[in-house]
Amino acid sequence: MMNEITSPEALDAPATIGPEAYISANYARAERDLLWRKSWLQAGRLEDIPNVGDFITFDIHDDSIIVVRERADTLRAFHNVCVHRGRKLIDTPQGKRNARGHVNAFICGFHGWAYDLTGKCSFVPHKDDWQGALTDERTALGTVQCDTWGGWVWINMDAAAMPLAAWLAPAPEMLDPFQLQNMRPRWRKWVVFDCNWKVAMEAFNETYHVSTTHPEFNKFAQFRGWARNQGLHTHIGYEAPKGLEEDAGKLRTGTGDARISTAEMQEFTWENANTNTTMTLVNAAKRLVDELPEGTPAADVSKHWIASAKADDERRGVVWPVVAPEHTAKVGTAWQIFPNFQIGQAVNNMLCYMARPFGNDPDKCYFEAAVYELYPEGEAPETEWEYTEPQDWPPVLQQDFTNMAAVQQGMKSGGFRGTLPNPYMERATVSLHMNLAKFMGTGAPLAVD
Ligand code: FES
Ligand SMILES: [Fe+2]
Repeated sequence: MMNEITSPEALDAPATIGPEAYISANYARAERDLLWRKSWLQAGRLEDIPNVGDFITFDIHDDSIIVVRERADTLRAFHNVCVHRGRKLIDTPQGKRNARGHVNAFICGFHGWAYDLTGKCSFVPHKDDWQGALTDERTALGTVQCDTWGGWVWINMDAAAMPLAAWLAPAPEMLDPFQLQNMRPRWRKWVVFDCNWKVAMEAFNETYHVSTTHPEFNKFAQFRGWARNQGLHTHIGYEAPKGLEEDAGKLRTGTGDARISTAEMQEFTWENANTNTTMTLVNAAKRLVDELPEGTPAADVSKHWIASAKADDERRGVVWPVVAPEHTAKVGTAWQIFPNFQIGQAVNNMLCYMARPFGNDPDKCYFEAAVYELYPEGEAPETEWEYTEPQDWPPVLQQDFTNMAAVQQGMKSGGFRGTLPNPYMERATVSLHMNLAKFMGTGAPLAVD
């Protein structure tokens, strides 16, 4: 007898998840109405639309949304479709992830209907032909809810949706000390994978795979990872050894001579992942052998490293937010924001992932990653989303990518009986499917005993 897992309390029991949510075309179709059109979704970064008239588009399944800065302190979101005959109002330039630009008005390229930044239709050629039927109400762009948190704009197509703050809770309360809104992207890449969007997200929501998929990290010490439910969301973290400074989030200092392994780990991470660290941290780690005597305990090495990196950054005008070590430990290393966004936060950098459906095709998804850090005022680089073939991503991420299509293919096997996630380290996946089932009406994880 197998029981459906429907509450967070049940998540520590071993469970199985059937492959339907990953491979069924019907399920992927149903996600549009039951999930994507009901959820608050991260739709872009505020620094991409700093000025009045700046806009970005965000595509999700069949829908495309325009987010525009209507006034200095007001954003608006609209369905990206012309009211006249349904032409997509703003095209995504060939090869781009989304459109981004600046307008005084949105003008449809088919017959020239124009809309102002409030979504009001401001011009219709030969309007009199409609004999007064083209009221403001009838001709306004369809509105979409939008709000902001963490430096992102979030949209929800459901006019009756709960407020964003209620949806995200408790993530803002836990992550606000990291001041994510002050970070700017160092790079951002996107690609299309031959796997379901959930397979892509689930490659990053657990630490269980690290020692096998990324064996190079094993020599830098292995800590056990945890995963916890937080309402709609989840988070993961490491059980750091007692006494080790945790301010650096997921940065691990290693074993042996901590001065050397810290530097090796930092250089390796910078070269091969280009995430989870900054040049300041790498340089401060490289100096450890000169600044500390041999035999310095690991905890002291870590403290010194973080303090000197922090001082280096301060000298160039980059001030890290202060987060209490107890809070850092409680928050963990990454948050999975339901349904399709992950934030891997630290005090001076973050790594974010998102996967989106590829239309109704359950076997494909759009995948993207963005790496952020703190920059001196006005010195953040100008970045764009770069389409990047898998072999051109940082090697550590390529290791994750190698599992994706193979998982998708494997789950279609007639011999596959459903997943068996680790109840402790892969709990985020079980939680995701528990919450997905509430939207989808199917697919709840089943307890196995
Ligand atoms: S479809 Fe947009 S003006 Fe005709
Ligand atoms: Fe990984």
